[in-house]
Parts: sequence; C-alpha cells; structure tokens
Amino acid sequence: MPLFFNALEATAHRLSLVPPMFDYFHTLGLHALVAAARMGIFDALRERPATCAELATTLDLDPHAADVLLRVLAGLGYLRGRGGRYRLTRASRLWFTTDSPTSLVAGLEFWERTACVIWPRMERALRDGSPATPFYDLLENDPELSRSFQAWTAALARRQAPAAARAVPVPRGGGHVLDVGGGHGVFSLELLRRHPLLRATVLDLPGALQSAAGHPRLTPRPGSFLDDDLGGGYDAVLLFNVLHGLGDQEAATLLRRLAAALNPGGAIVVGDQFGDSLMPGRSSRALLHLLDLNYLVATGGRVRGFAEVAQLLREAGFRRPRHRRPLRSVTTELAVART
Ligand SMILES: C[S@@+](CC[C@H](N)C(=O)[O-])C[C@H]1O[C@@H](n2cnc3c(N)ncnc32)[C@H](O)[C@@H]1O
Repeated sequence: MPLFFNALEATAHRLSLVPPMFDYFHTLGLHALVAAARMGIFDALRERPATCAELATTLDLDPHAADVLLRVLAGLGYLRGRGGRYRLTRASRLWFTTDSPTSLVAGLEFWERTACVIWPRMERALRDGSPATPFYDLLENDPELSRSFQAWTAALARRQAPAAARAVPVPRGGGHVLDVGGGHGVFSLELLRRHPLLRATVLDLPGALQSAAGHPRLTPRPGSFLDDDLGGGYDAVLLFNVLHGLGDQEAATLLRRLAAALNPGGAIVVGDQFGDSLMPGRSSRALLHLLDLNYLVATGGRVRGFAEVAQLLREAGFRRPRHRRPLRSVTTELAVART
C-alpha cells in the first residue's frame, strides 16, 4: 500500500494526533487490489481511460460500488482520475494488467491466502521461534496455491533475470548449471538464452516443478535440496531467493552440499535481499523488517546481511565471496563465490 503523507499528515502521525489507522487498513488495500485485478479493472483500462459508468457497464459492477473502489485505487496510487475518467499508472500497467510480462495478477491469490491463513498464526512463531506453517508443505499439497506462488515469483524473476544472468560465470564451452529451488525456471531460461551450449538442471519440490518452463536444454529434477541427492559435476549453482527461507543450520548444510556438488573452481551465485545494503530510507527499512517477519512466520527463515551470507559461504568452503549489484535492477543483490 503506497502512502503519500504530506508534511502536515506526517507531523500528525509523528505526534500521534491521529490513531494508526493505516495499519488496520493495509489488508483492506490488498483485498481491494485483488478484487480490482480479478474483476478486470486494470485490463479494461489498458487500452484507454474510462469513466466509472463505462467501467461499471463493461464489467457488470454496481455503479456506486465501482465508484467507491475506483476512488480507493486512485487514493492508493494505482489509478489516476482526471476529468471524470480513470487511467492506469505506470505501476498498475506494469504489475496488474494480465498481459504484462511482469504481471503479478496470477500471484495475487497467493498473497490473499497468506494474509488470511499464514500471518494470523504469527503468535506461535513469536513464542517458540518456529514457523507457523510448514509453508512449502502447504504449497505442495495445494496445486492452485503453488501455481499462484510460482506465478508471483516468476513475474519478479522476469524483471531481474537479464541483469542477474550477466553476473553468472559460465564456462566458454558450455557447462552445466544447477538452479536450486529454481521452481518456474525463469533464471535458468535466461542463462540458456545467453549461452547456447549451456545445460541447466532445475531442482525443486515436485509440485513447484509443475510450473517449470520447458526447454530442450533444461532438466527438471524433483526432490528436496535438504535431503535428496543433488547430483554433481556442476560448473555453477544458482541459489536465488532460497537462503532467506532457511534457518542458519539448514542454510549451512545446504551450502556445504552445494560446494561438494560443484566442480573445483565452480561458482555459486546467491541472489537475495541483503539486510545490510538496502536502499536508504525509512520505508525501505520498514519493508525489510516486515519481510524478515514474513520469513520467520512462514518458513523459519530470515533476512541476512551480505556479511552474514559471505561468512556462511566461507564456512561452507567457498572462496572470496563478492557482493554484486547488477546494473538496471535495483532489487537484485548477488553474492558470488568460488569453490
Ligand atoms: C522463494 S522461491 C524462489 C524461486 C526462484 N528461485 C526465484 O528466485 O524466483 C523458493 C523456491 O524454493 C523451493 N524449495 C523450498 N524448499 C525446498 C526444498 N526443501 N527442496 C527443493 N526446493 C525447495 C520452493 O518450492 C520455491 O520454488
């Protein structure tokens, strides 16, 4: 929920002249967004701006209810309303129209369920530090939810993959990359596109691999990266958005197993949000702390700084971890190290 406080509003909040109403209404904002995307409001505005009456007729909505929802979306910055007509903002065109390559629409069900099922169980996680849900079991047992989660992560990956792939060291004559917890396979696909002789194996749980992209040089490998055989002889390993889902012990074990699965001199590329190098600003910090809470509650994982990830990599036998932040992708942070 983007908030746009002016100086007066910010002061009123700082001095506690008003109650913290936005915290109560965050979730309502999410549900409004989900409802709007599902009912086709963003898609209907893709071609041209429209009035509330036109949208209500096209989408078969109650005119007053449509008016209320459109004002909410405009207030949150997802629509712009001028002269009685609504139009998309850049953000809603990019993220909430269904034919955008980075559309988050198919992933909205996942967040709706997370808000209703996982986060309300937070207290247990806070009391004993263990996750409130066996998160990935939940996904494995619910194909639709798994598809929605994979669609959401794939949309974000599509935005990051070109920049991330440029930072992955791959042998000239081809080679073999293991994409650990690679699910949808978007990062592997981008690497295969860049390197015509490369092969990729995407290791993930069986349900997640149902969403994996198809490619003649991509092999899905169903299994758990914690317990099952990882194979071997890899030239590079991708570990994108996986480490934050693991506790320290699991992370250390996985990294040791990956070091053993790589050829000598092979590279590991860890992609994650690093808590010690985020964009400056209070909102970014608040978001990072919320992410940390989400990982704690959902999987028992956590946000780590680059320094902590580098330490874990060294302890697992990797050499010279380097922090890379590829150009043109402000949210992609990488740690690259060699065996
Ligand atoms: C946050 S997603 C990241 C997906 C992808 N790497 C990306 O960055 O978009 C974490 C992935 O790890 C997979 N995963 C979680 N636990 C796993 C396990 N024990 N073994 C194999 N895969 C696992 C999940 O199914 C999911 O696809």
